[in-house]
Amino acid sequence: MSDKEADTSVAVHDLIARRWSPRAFDADVALDPERVRALLEAARWAPSFGNTQPARYLVGLRGDDTFERILGALAEGNRSWAHRAGALLVGCARVRNEKGGVPYAEYGVGLSAENLALQAVADGLAVHQMAGFDADTVRREFALPDEITPLVAIAVGVTADPEVLGDERAVTRETAPRRRIALAEFAFSGTWGEATYPA
Ligand SMILES: Cc1cc2nc3c(=O)[nH]c(=O)nc-3n(C[C@H](O)[C@H](O)[C@H](O)COP(=O)(O)O)c2cc1C
Repeated sequence: MSDKEADTSVAVHDLIARRWSPRAFDADVALDPERVRALLEAARWAPSFGNTQPARYLVGLRGDDTFERILGALAEGNRSWAHRAGALLVGCARVRNEKGGVPYAEYGVGLSAENLALQAVADGLAVHQMAGFDADTVRREFALPDEITPLVAIAVGVTADPEVLGDERAVTRETAPRRRIALAEFAFSGTWGEATYPA
């Protein structure tokens, strides 16, 4: 088991155990648009409240104009590594439709993004989601309609040697084991706080 693999009390699906959010992407690997298509198909088939399907994506491939404009909207800390990704996306929520407000729109984008991330793992890719971007810049750059809310930027690519990150602190963070709260603090039965699985 690599340090990045999820440490679970029982086996979970390999795709879930192996998904993580790298920052070291391989700038020498370009992403074929057909590989990105598969990710978007996975994302498109996520469940949503009343099948309202609120998720939408902006999609840029490294080298194209959309990629550059998404990159330009990222917070500096994210831009410093995300420029090596093969694709940059922005996950958006359609928060209103013909019938009014869309309930659970953000929840729908989250479900869709996780589908995308797991499909990426299945296809030998990795995904890193980012809240660190300027939503107003995205709104302006891509002329988003009012009912569309940009929620998350997503870097997609092939992982690289952590050394590409350059500084030591970034490399240490990239190679550190991933951590989660214990299952005993996560699932309760009887009374809130009473662990379903104490160990
Ligand atoms: C909605 C959301 C926003 C995030 N924003 C950022 C971000 O701006 N920059 C960053 O480096 N990581 C960001 N992350 C990545 C998380 O830090 C990461 O998923 C978390 O530490 C768990 O690590 P893992 O994905 O490797 O399991 C974000 C993740 C999510 C789901």
